[in-house]
Amino acid sequence: MTQDELKDAVAAAAIDEIRPLLGRDVVIGIGTGSTANCFIDRLAALQGEFRGAVASSEASAQRLVSHGIDVFELNEIGTLPVYVDGADEVNAHLHMIKGGGAALTREKIVAACAQRFICIADASKRVERLGNFPLPVEVIPMARSYVARELAQLGAEPVYRMGTLTDNGNQILDCYDFAISDPLTMEARINAIVGVVTNGLFAARGADLLLLGSKDGVEKISAA
Ligand code: 5RP
Repeated sequence: MTQDELKDAVAAAAIDEIRPLLGRDVVIGIGTGSTANCFIDRLAALQGEFRGAVASSEASAQRLVSHGIDVFELNEIGTLPVYVDGADEVNAHLHMIKGGGAALTREKIVAACAQRFICIADASKRVERLGNFPLPVEVIPMARSYVARELAQLGAEPVYRMGTLTDNGNQILDCYDFAISDPLTMEARINAIVGVVTNGLFAARGADLLLLGSKDGVEKISAA
């Protein structure tokens, strides 16, 4: 199976997972990226079975609208029964690195409002220790150099993601060569640096369920 086929397989599995939660008043949270896009494309077939979606990026909102799915502002909705999104890395505790697509802050906000977080990923995303994928950190532009120096103190090698502006008008530093042995502590430490909007560690609010696609099928994994 190709990686694209694996992404579509986990998207299909996520549809099966969320279907019992749907209803005419139900609004669901939707993430960002190529795997989330597969999920959005499959969700189009369920129109009429739910009210609409809150999106974690402008790109996902546009894709939802292109399928005729209503998109709501999070402030209009409140709590969501479920949030479905991909990840750049995920460990056995279902802690994740996210933000490869620069949508980490909105992803974290929508995930915080969701009762259940379903992570959909192909097997290449499953890791023993987080940090091989460069950890994205969203920063207020004027704080970029200061935050980079602070991240270096923590052991990272931060690199400015040139030409990328987040949906919030901020910039991204990607932390290379960063062995993250304690994701919960590191998430809090980075967030405490002045000028950081948020970082791509999703440990305080990890996933509740991982749907992991491999050539052997889709495995349902709960947090260890
Ligand atoms: C975007 C994200 C994505 O979930 C992550 O980058 C995975 O993307 P893909 O499904 O394309 O591999 O966090 O900010």
